[in-house]
This record gives sequence, structure tokens and C-alpha cells, in this order.
Amino acid sequence: MTKLRSKLVVGNWKMHGRLAANAALLQGVARGAQALPAGVQVGVCVPFPYLAQAQALLGGSRVAWGAQDVSAHEQGAYTGEIAAGMIVDFEAAYAIVGHSERRAYHAESSEVVAQKALRALTAGLTPIVCVGETLAQRESGETARVVGAQLDAVLAALSEQEAARIVVAYEPVWAIGTGKSATSEQAQEVHAFLRARLAAKGAAVANVPLLYGGSVKPENAAELFRQEDIDGGLIGGASLKEGDFLAICTAAAAGESVAG
Ligand code: PGA
Repeated sequence: MTKLRSKLVVGNWKMHGRLAANAALLQGVARGAQALPAGVQVGVCVPFPYLAQAQALLGGSRVAWGAQDVSAHEQGAYTGEIAAGMIVDFEAAYAIVGHSERRAYHAESSEVVAQKALRALTAGLTPIVCVGETLAQRESGETARVVGAQLDAVLAALSEQEAARIVVAYEPVWAIGTGKSATSEQAQEVHAFLRARLAAKGAAVANVPLLYGGSVKPENAAELFRQEDIDGGLIGGASLKEGDFLAICTAAAAGESVAG
């Protein structure tokens, strides 16, 4: 039986924004999202200090909000860390875990990423688990091994029921912020591989949303989102521009994917 998977587009603001500019962007996205078909879900992951602002300005709108990281610990003496429960206090829906910038600049291992995913799920957040290879790894033919190991570490820490509630984002490191997106064929190939890996965890896990991230723009979004196993996008730079982000969301509306 075939069924339609809805699309999900999530903005990752990274370390950008100030109160005044955020207000205009959040209100503009909330307004623009009203026109999107029901099959498209939208979210924005903001810096921690702006979760309250996102809650105030996006509450009641079509747009969900989330954080860009979460502590691997529940609570305690972890100066500077933010617990999943604190993020939930602001009615957030998502927490990105294992973004390549966290893995590279903060030495996060896949085991730590798995703990973060589990903390997020336990608190009621949907973790957006990022995986992706570097250019050197791609060129030496290691893409499947690298992204497979990153995903497996997370799946190993979760039950089938828990794993069914995650979102996975494939973000090739060489495509992030470079303007050089993966081609739709390159992305689809890795997504199909990840889909099979998810399905091996259990039937309930096969249809978790698989987002592509890395230089998604209004110009390439429709082609990427048309691919069978691409269920939407994780959008960095373009999520900071209201018009671009909404155009990407609109492109998602045109490409709802068909799941087997
Ligand atoms: P980009 O970033 O869209 O600016 O390439 C994507 C991401 O890092 O999530």
C-alpha cells in the first residue's frame, strides 16, 4: 500500500538573531505559513535565549519551534548546559542533536548524540538527529559507513517505539553553508540508504521523516523535495530570510513523497 508522507521544513538559525530582528522574522514566517497546504509542517530552531520569544510569537500559528542542542544529562551540576525539560517549559517541539558543527567544534561523539536524542524523547521533544560525511570521507568512498555508524549509534540507544519518534537530517558537511548543495541524486542515494537502515530497526521506524540539509535554497528545494526519500529540509542560511524560507516551504508543498 502506498501512503503520502507529509513534508517537514525546519529552520536552523544557528547563532544568529537579536530580539528586534527575530520578531519581524517570526511574525513574517507565521503569517506566510498560513497559506501553506496542510501537508507541510514548519518549524524553526532558535538560540536558547529566544525560545520564549518564539513561544510568544509563534504560539497558535502553523509554525512550531525548537532548540539547536540539548544536554545529555537530565539535570545537575553541568554549568552552561540546557536540559530537555527546560526547553519543554517553552512548549518547544524540536531539539536538533548531533549537528556537524557540534560534532566538529564541541567534540560530540555519536554516543553523546544518542544520549541527547534519548533525553529529548524522554522529555517529549522530537530530536532532529543530524548525520553527514565530510568531503574527504565522501571522496574516499566512506559516506555509507560514516552516516550508517552515526545513525546506528542513536538507534542502538532507543527502543523501536522511541526510534519511531525521531527525525533524521542528512547534512553532508561539505554542503553546509558552502552554497554547494548535494545534487538531488546524491542526496536521494544516501536517504535511501538511511531509510533501509531505519527500516531494519522495525516497521514503525521506516517512515520517520528524513530531511536533507546543506545549502537548500528556493532554487534547488523543489528538485530535492521531489526525491522519493526526501521528506523535507533542515535549512540554515536561507531560514534567516523570510521570503527564502517561505519559498522553500512552498516548494515542499509541491513535493509530498510517496512511501511504500
Ligand atoms: P545551510 O545550513 O542551509 O546554511 O547550508 C544547514 C545546516 O547546517 O543545518
